[in-house]
Amino acid sequence: MEKNIKWWKNALVYQIYPLSFKDSNSDGVGDLKGIISKLDYLKSYGVDVVWLSPVYESPMDDNGYDISDYTKVNPLFGTMEDLQELIDGLHSRGMKLIMDLVVNHTSDEHIWFKEALNNPNSKYHDYYIWNKEAKPEIGSVFSGSAWEYVEHLDKYYFHLFSRRQPDLNWHNKEMREEIYQMINSWLDKGVDGFRMDVIELIGKDVLNGKIGDGPYLETYLFEMWERCFKGRDIMNIGEMGGISQERAGELTSIENSGLHMTFQFSHLSVDQEAWKSKWHIKPVDFKELKNVFIKNHEIFKEKGWNSLFLSNHDQPRQISRFGDENYRVKSGQMLFLMIYGQKGTPYVYQGEEIGMTGIKFDDLKSYKDVETLNWYKEATQLGWPHERIMKSIYSKGRDNSRTPFQWNNKPFAGFSDVKPWLEVNPNYQTINAELELNDDDSVYHFSKRLFEIRKAFDVFTDGEFKCLDQEASSTFIYKRFNQTHEALIITNLTNKEQEIHLEEIKGFSIVLSNYDIKLSKRMILPPYAAILSIKGV
Ligand code: NOJ
Repeated sequence: MEKNIKWWKNALVYQIYPLSFKDSNSDGVGDLKGIISKLDYLKSYGVDVVWLSPVYESPMDDNGYDISDYTKVNPLFGTMEDLQELIDGLHSRGMKLIMDLVVNHTSDEHIWFKEALNNPNSKYHDYYIWNKEAKPEIGSVFSGSAWEYVEHLDKYYFHLFSRRQPDLNWHNKEMREEIYQMINSWLDKGVDGFRMDVIELIGKDVLNGKIGDGPYLETYLFEMWERCFKGRDIMNIGEMGGISQERAGELTSIENSGLHMTFQFSHLSVDQEAWKSKWHIKPVDFKELKNVFIKNHEIFKEKGWNSLFLSNHDQPRQISRFGDENYRVKSGQMLFLMIYGQKGTPYVYQGEEIGMTGIKFDDLKSYKDVETLNWYKEATQLGWPHERIMKSIYSKGRDNSRTPFQWNNKPFAGFSDVKPWLEVNPNYQTINAELELNDDDSVYHFSKRLFEIRKAFDVFTDGEFKCLDQEASSTFIYKRFNQTHEALIITNLTNKEQEIHLEEIKGFSIVLSNYDIKLSKRMILPPYAAILSIKGV
């Protein structure tokens, strides 16, 4: 029977952070032409969809997540012609492009905000959120209050992120219509969908203190679907960092919500102290991590759709966080199998496929991320000693995953021929794409093969999930099964040997493994072992 699986369910999505991917014009900053020069690299890895972090006009206070003109390309990255060439280049190779849609806020340099400040009687004033007092008291995600005082107006505007990212007032209908028009014009240009930045925030009711997953979220999502997405064969991902797993399931199940899948973060709080900010670090709790995954599979069993990822431009590198830099290749391979054997659409963040690791700059001046720099100030005021702050930054700072892509062992890792905007990780001599591609046992080749297998068997897309070792914190063993196939995923999450006992292995053959090993009922798994078997092949 022909199955009707939506293309975005088994697509491999690859995220490009344009500042750090490839510099083509020797200014130390990645650009569109640089990306275009690497399209064959992406195709040959098996990429189906590129998600491009923002390339719109922006003063770059938050590296492009502060947009000053939604209709223009930032000259730092190139021109509109370059973007069209990128879209065409992807399409001609059978790949798609999804853009970042950042509509919870604009830059303070957006003409709407400038008008709003200059003339409180202009219609643009109400495009933003104002109050006479800094109330209710709400903290910005990037430290300090979310309210910023404007002296000549004698009132405050609201910004959940940096003070240069004022939040849009989604209750203003005219503003919403302008956004919808903008979305449509990008779709008409051939863009294949959007990753919708912090989209759960657009339904907020600030003055009543309701922020994440606010009371108007479903209304506005539905309206957006009607105005923009209805009838188009596109892919929409709702980045919803602050919502529960249950709500993520519900929101992607609502008929016509326009959200095909959620990009949620419930699995990423397993290395921070409960109820505290991400900077309050603790060792990863793997049992908790597994429990989050298990719950995801219950929630998304019948309805809704989830994304699979361990890192992105806001998160640390996965090997440094969940794996082990001393076992870089083995643990990198294990993490790929551990996460991408599960149900959901796989997302690979640039550099993960070559096993890149996090960064530890000695000098705070080397850090560029606004969140990190604000945090340093706040932590100092809180009385944290310098060493403790740096430890938290080494572990959670966003620049960990933003260092330039390591293409080869030439100066600046082949990313650029001048000093890049953010320093290259000094380990580029031993960790780079050229070496990875020439080594059959690399993270690159293991993960490429994994995605080939994933595509060849529908069981990875639509199969059910069953964890076989829920109580274990050192291993993660699970099955995926549908009417035609059964897959068995075995991973050792530690740097120690682990003994495991399997009940049912008859008929299974190993199709991918990072050790030369045989399947048996009692097995000793070497450090970070990753074994994928399928029944009846
Ligand atoms: C989420 C983005 O991924 C992050 O980089 C950005 O700082 C915030 N949203 C605000 O746009």
